[in-house]
Amino acid sequence: MRILSGLQPSGRLHIGNYFGMMDAALRLQHEGDAYYFIADYHSLTSIHDAPKLRSHVRDLAIDFLACGLDPQKCVLFRQSDVPEVTELSWILSTVTPMGLLERCHSYKDKIARGIAASHGLFAYPVLMAADILIYDSDVVPVGKDQKQHVEVTRDIAIKMNEAFGEGLLKVPEPRIREETAVVPGLDGQKMSKSYDNTIQLFEDPADLKKKIMKKLVTDSTALELPKPIETSTILPLYKLVASPADYDAMVADHQRGGIGYGDFKKRLLEALVSYFTPMAERRAEIVADPGYVDRVLAEGAEKARAVARKTLARVRAAVGLGD
Ligand code: TYM
Repeated sequence: MRILSGLQPSGRLHIGNYFGMMDAALRLQHEGDAYYFIADYHSLTSIHDAPKLRSHVRDLAIDFLACGLDPQKCVLFRQSDVPEVTELSWILSTVTPMGLLERCHSYKDKIARGIAASHGLFAYPVLMAADILIYDSDVVPVGKDQKQHVEVTRDIAIKMNEAFGEGLLKVPEPRIREETAVVPGLDGQKMSKSYDNTIQLFEDPADLKKKIMKKLVTDSTALELPKPIETSTILPLYKLVASPADYDAMVADHQRGGIGYGDFKKRLLEALVSYFTPMAERRAEIVADPGYVDRVLAEGAEKARAVARKTLARVRAAVGLGD
């Protein structure tokens, strides 16, 4: 089984990325042949600042390794180290109906938030399809917001196979974990850098404290009263990082009343710190050895490129490019 997924290097990793995709991807590295990449071509749709993009790419590689990616078990690479993917993207775009892209929520959301409607932003799902299809991927672990893009990928693969021969491209499946499909942010909406509601994995402790104690939105239920469970912004986050027994205790304390949100927030803060501290320590070790990250990315690029070249050669032959 070939597993593949990618993340955009758009700043520091947040816990939505971690629980929505990375945690599942790290578990899957033990179950198959896993390829994970840093989607720097995709980030060019929002970052036009070369030093910033390079430093985000490096930070994300370090984050991946700190979270437990084992470069002996899977391939970690930079998307742009495999430029073949852009050629495949062009070929795929010639069978991709405009309507398919026009229906993509992610594009519409980004435009609504004021991001310039560039061609790259519009064609983003085609490049994502190329990312997935060039590695003959079976399974794509993602959060719910990427589900539609994997469905577009399936449609494009089917169109290619109809036009140029059955079996030319493998039709992949999204893998979405129900419990963490949409991790909420500090305001209860989907956690996203663009909503400024994130909790980063490797947040500075003082900033983390400020975010949880001051920015995490709660309602105005009086201390002595029971607190609502369904609309809680604290419980869904606590569930991710607390033991089941601690989580159940917090639910019971909500129902009982007599405990204020400040107390629940302190428990959440402690649970977050103890969950991510071992990864933060590992991160510090990796940062101290810069050559390590370079080696991992160089080896990853070589392995990924070898697979991509084969698929691209197959596709070029099928569509009539070259001799
Ligand atoms: P990106 O960088 O926006 O997000 C990376 C992964 O994190 C998941 N995610 C979430 N999951 C649950 N709750 C949240 N609040 C949350 N926020 C983010 C995303 O669903 C994603 O799985 N287009 C992709 C990158 C990409 C890619 C690919 C992914 C490029 N090519 C090929 C898979 C296969 C993106 O922008 O993800």
